[in-house]
Amino acid sequence: LSCRSLAIHRHTFGEKYLGGRLTRAEGSDLYDYEPEAGIFAAEVLAGLQQTVKTIAPKYFYDERGSQLFDAITQLPEYYPTRTELALFERYLPEVRQQLVAQPFCVVEYGSGSNKKIRRGLDVLQPAAYVPVDISRQYLLDNARQLKTDFPELAIYPVCADISASFTLPEEVQAMQKLGFFPGSSIGNFTPAEAIEFLQRLRDTLGHGAQVLIGVDAKKSVAVLEAAYNDAAGVTADFNLNALQHLNEQLQANFKLDQFAHEAHYNDDLGCIQMFLRSRIAQQVEIGGAVIEFAVGEAIHTEDSYKYHPDEFLHIAQQAGFTKTALWQDPDAWYSLFLMRA
Ligand code: AVJ
Repeated sequence: LSCRSLAIHRHTFGEKYLGGRLTRAEGSDLYDYEPEAGIFAAEVLAGLQQTVKTIAPKYFYDERGSQLFDAITQLPEYYPTRTELALFERYLPEVRQQLVAQPFCVVEYGSGSNKKIRRGLDVLQPAAYVPVDISRQYLLDNARQLKTDFPELAIYPVCADISASFTLPEEVQAMQKLGFFPGSSIGNFTPAEAIEFLQRLRDTLGHGAQVLIGVDAKKSVAVLEAAYNDAAGVTADFNLNALQHLNEQLQANFKLDQFAHEAHYNDDLGCIQMFLRSRIAQQVEIGGAVIEFAVGEAIHTEDSYKYHPDEFLHIAQQAGFTKTALWQDPDAWYSLFLMRA
């Protein structure tokens, strides 16, 4: 990928980026807040040196990880995606009626393959679309693909870690915003982090912004655990791919077959927790450091919080949002909230 840096207003403030750099890659503009490799290495190493070894879930999403996640969304056990898509199908016309301003811009947090927004673009007819994702090449490829299918739509991809700050492209700053955060990705934050995230989202999207957000609900532990322990082993591959990502990006030497996928529901916290458990006592080299694993020691790779609608509303209210609408499937397995800042 050859990029020409056009304007550099990038500053680091601690580890948060305050400004992006606009790069032009084969005809499409990309606002680039991709964390630098050095930050990535320091963050991963710090996580692996904690008492409970931890890798943040954002490290799942290299290109292969993004593809594996797409495969997860098709699994029979993984109910959230198809439940949410059915809710979109049914209620997007109502969302359209509730939108306060035209023209408006959809900002999607963690846009991935753009699959979910397609119906949204058809029904909601925004003037502009800003996909935000940490997986840079995947973001670009998908933005280009979307552009061929929606030639009239202005698309401004932003490569950023949505758990940090970023600013929106200048071109959309005057438009009213609809934040789009589907898939229950909010579940990767702890409840306290979710409040901070929503406050940041409110700051980013500006006055009067609306947000459409999908939230997975608490339900039977058997259903929840099956969704993260699929029979085909795709979730296991997805989890293990985080180690492959570190091998490639940070020249680590994790042996994937020496770690086992594990996912279970933590009833006290109200979340699915995923781990990679070391099958043996072993040492792993990463970024010039050596990490020791005892037999059976785990790396914590993900939390996926589940919220009753009223629990989530409480979080949203603390972040300064009020509910416009709440839609659920007949089993109440999944909630779709439309809220206003
Ligand atoms: C993208 C965070 C919503 O928690 O269900 C799927 C990620 N991890 N299977 C989820 C995931 C394992 C997913 N989110």
